[in-house]
Amino acid sequence: MKHNLLKGKRGIIFGALNDMSIAWKVAERAVEEGAIITLSNTPVAVRMGDTDTLGKKLNAEILPADATNVEDLEMVFSKSMEILGGKIDFVLHSIGMSPNVRKKRTYDDLDYNLLDKTLDVSAVSFHKMLQVAKKMDAISTGGSVVALTYVAAQRVFYGYNDMADAKALLESITRSFGYIYGREKGVRVNTISQSPTMTTAGSGVKGMLDLLDFSERMSPIGNADADDCADYCIVMFSDLTRKITMQNLYNDGGFSSMGMSIRAMRQYSNGLEDEKEEDENVIYG
Ligand SMILES: NC(=O)c1ccc[n+]([C@@H]2O[C@H](COP(=O)([O-])OP(=O)(O)OC[C@H]3O[C@@H](n4cnc5c(N)ncnc54)[C@H](O)[C@@H]3O)[C@@H](O)[C@H]2O)c1
Repeated sequence: MKHNLLKGKRGIIFGALNDMSIAWKVAERAVEEGAIITLSNTPVAVRMGDTDTLGKKLNAEILPADATNVEDLEMVFSKSMEILGGKIDFVLHSIGMSPNVRKKRTYDDLDYNLLDKTLDVSAVSFHKMLQVAKKMDAISTGGSVVALTYVAAQRVFYGYNDMADAKALLESITRSFGYIYGREKGVRVNTISQSPTMTTAGSGVKGMLDLLDFSERMSPIGNADADDCADYCIVMFSDLTRKITMQNLYNDGGFSSMGMSIRAMRQYSNGLEDEKEEDENVIYG
């Protein structure tokens, strides 16, 4: 449904890889709501993924950039202002990756070089993005920056590994930078904490199908999907949320407030027999 919520606004969307990506849905919704945008992803992702298709569909220029590289980010902001014809009104950081998860290193056997990479790609890149934008004065007063996070920043989720630490850092950067950027330039900075969602990054999470089922059973109104997340991002980019900043906002069907639901309890009791037979040698990481 179109409401023209972003009419006349200019945005940058980082992280649309393919049509399952949350950023892909956000880009489509932003344009539907009247925004003009640029898209950015790593050069490899642009080569291997479907970002080109999205760019053509939305008439959006693609700016290949590694979000951990400050010069690349400077290029994205300066070119975006040039292409879109003025300061940027909204930015989506939809970027996450853990090489420890990819290489199946458990949390009690992390490779620390890989941990540095996880934190740099998934969290510090957000600081870099904000710092570059602020130094270039690239975001307009009242502009809105959103990054995507997960509830594993607050509570332990089996298998989420070092991404939990990255998300905790991401949310902390949101508050710390949100204070400075808000006070000095009136720019809002928030995270949206999304339900598990079947995307390329999501499918890398250990036991993703079971996690999706569990959180669906636990959430009174069910998991939020990528389209739900896109809708929330649009509201956060719009002028309807002018005074919301430095927040971690849950888009999770109520999951984060639950302890136990009847649907999860029923499923749990069905599984008790299996648990008794489980191998003694359990990997918790
Ligand atoms: N899928 C889920 O279950 C879920 C739940 C909560 C939060 N999130 C978060 O949503 C965001 C988007 O993930 P997604 O699920 O849409 O998966 P996705 O795989 O479609 O998107 C991840 C993106 O990060 C990009 N990326 C990786 N390294 C990069 C770098 N160095 N520079 C620039 N871009 C880089 C990838 O190319 C990809 O486009 C991530 O932050 C993820 O942690 C996902």
